[in-house]
Amino acid sequence: MGIVRLTNVTKNYIHNKHKVCVFNNLDIEVNSGEFLIIKGASGSGKSTLLNIIGTLEKPTSGKVTLFGKDISHGGIHELSELRLRTFGFIYQAFNLIHFLTAFDNVQLPLLLSGHVRSAELERFVHEMLGRVGLAHRARHYPAELSGGEQQRVAIARALVNNPTIVLADEPTGNLDKQTSGEILYLMKQLHGEGSRTFIVATHDDEVVKVGTRIIDLNYLTVGV
Ligand SMILES: Nc1ncnc2c1ncn2[C@@H]1O[C@H](COP(=O)(O)OP(=O)(O)OP(=O)(O)O)[C@@H](O)[C@H]1O
Ligand SMILES: [Mg+2]
Repeated sequence: MGIVRLTNVTKNYIHNKHKVCVFNNLDIEVNSGEFLIIKGASGSGKSTLLNIIGTLEKPTSGKVTLFGKDISHGGIHELSELRLRTFGFIYQAFNLIHFLTAFDNVQLPLLLSGHVRSAELERFVHEMLGRVGLAHRARHYPAELSGGEQQRVAIARALVNNPTIVLADEPTGNLDKQTSGEILYLMKQLHGEGSRTFIVATHDDEVVKVGTRIIDLNYLTVGV
């Protein structure tokens, strides 16, 4: 059975009193350990789909289950707790907190989840920064890092809580070709360690190539 299952999921937005239909009756199953690529034209609903899976948005109708549990109607507190335990998020624009150092950005999910004893926090964060090759930049602020380095910090932040599922929205979208290649290599390396699942929305053919499966929203959705 899939770890994430969307059954008959429809998502509409209301914009200026008009209905914007993103998907209709989408059925998707994600299996443990996949490096699943979500592709599709701009506006086809890739980010919306990741946000629904990551419990940041609710479907208009249909059912979303995570490990067999229905999460379509969860409350704010229940969902935020679930999010911290289950998901790591990586974004195109890195989304680091600009007034926190690399170290503090990576430490944040550990502080929020409260599962790591304070004596161990520092070791955990340093280990994670080491894994993304940035131990020497721990005290730098985001503005003092290159784009590729910022994305490495964001990846460290996404993975420090040891999430089961990593959701990445255009993770190489703001990077040059060589840096994209390095970030992709890093994500594949982190995917290869254990049974973690990656769900990656992308336009980047190099990223598409390394997927274990591709879902193309152009062929699954009806936008209006
Ligand atoms: N909050 C919102 N209100 C109204 N419409 C929205 C909202 N968010 C997204 N949309 C619309 O939903 C559709 C899907 O958006 P989404 O961001 O998921 O696309 P995408 O596939 O990620 O595109 P891109 O490749 O450009 O990132 C778009 O047509 C967008 O305009
Ligand atoms: Mg998008």
